[in-house]
Amino acid sequence: MKLAICPDATAARQVAARVISHQIRKKPASVLGLATGRTMEAIYRLLAREHTEHGLDFSAVTTFNLDEYVGLPGTHDQSYRYYMQTHLFDHVNVTTAQTHVPDGAASDPDAEAEAYDTSIAASGGIDLQLLGLGENGHIGFNEPLSALSSRTRVVTLDCATLEQNAGMFGGDATKVPTRALTMGTGTILDSRETLLVVTGAAKADILARVVEGPVSALVPGSALQLHQHCLVILDEAAASGL
Ligand code: GLP
Repeated sequence: MKLAICPDATAARQVAARVISHQIRKKPASVLGLATGRTMEAIYRLLAREHTEHGLDFSAVTTFNLDEYVGLPGTHDQSYRYYMQTHLFDHVNVTTAQTHVPDGAASDPDAEAEAYDTSIAASGGIDLQLLGLGENGHIGFNEPLSALSSRTRVVTLDCATLEQNAGMFGGDATKVPTRALTMGTGTILDSRETLLVVTGAAKADILARVVEGPVSALVPGSALQLHQHCLVILDEAAASGL
């Protein structure tokens, strides 16, 4: 793991956007793994600006998102497909065919999960996987006790995650879908490079366990210690527990 500790969250997001832009310029047909969550919003804003102002070209890029809520169609304003359209895809030159988000409305979610992994493999594999960190240590929706070798599958969300994401559902945790489709920890580890972005003091303790603790299924993010090319971008608040 390599750590880049930035003075504040704004700087951390700028560094993350620069790493992604560099990847696209270096390899225009990059396969990018993308994430959702509040941390990513400003990063996508910066990438959209880089496209508009400096011609960052997404025309040959393929994307695969980490996860999606089971039961939410892509038109639902809390689905991760909707998030991706509004925060990034609608602002850059990608077609829907180039972008992949697990289909939360699939009639057979298990088959959808299997097909998703097949589709990642058929694309040649993910070059750069962007990741956020849940306050319980999850990456994607791989909750504590997810097998380190897990593949894309249907999971039941932790109570802590329902609470953490309740803000997006009018503050009501009972409105958050209880199941999700997520790339597995093993799927994530297959990416050629991983980029974990963590900001804010609320994640300082869990970040310290991810980076310095034992590799354990209790803290799914700690699996990134096993990855050959993992860059962790932090602000000073998130790094304060190291
Ligand atoms: C959701 C996503 C995760 C993301 C997490 C962190 O749970 N499934 O992939 O890492 O949110 O979100 P935030 O950046 O809002 O703290």
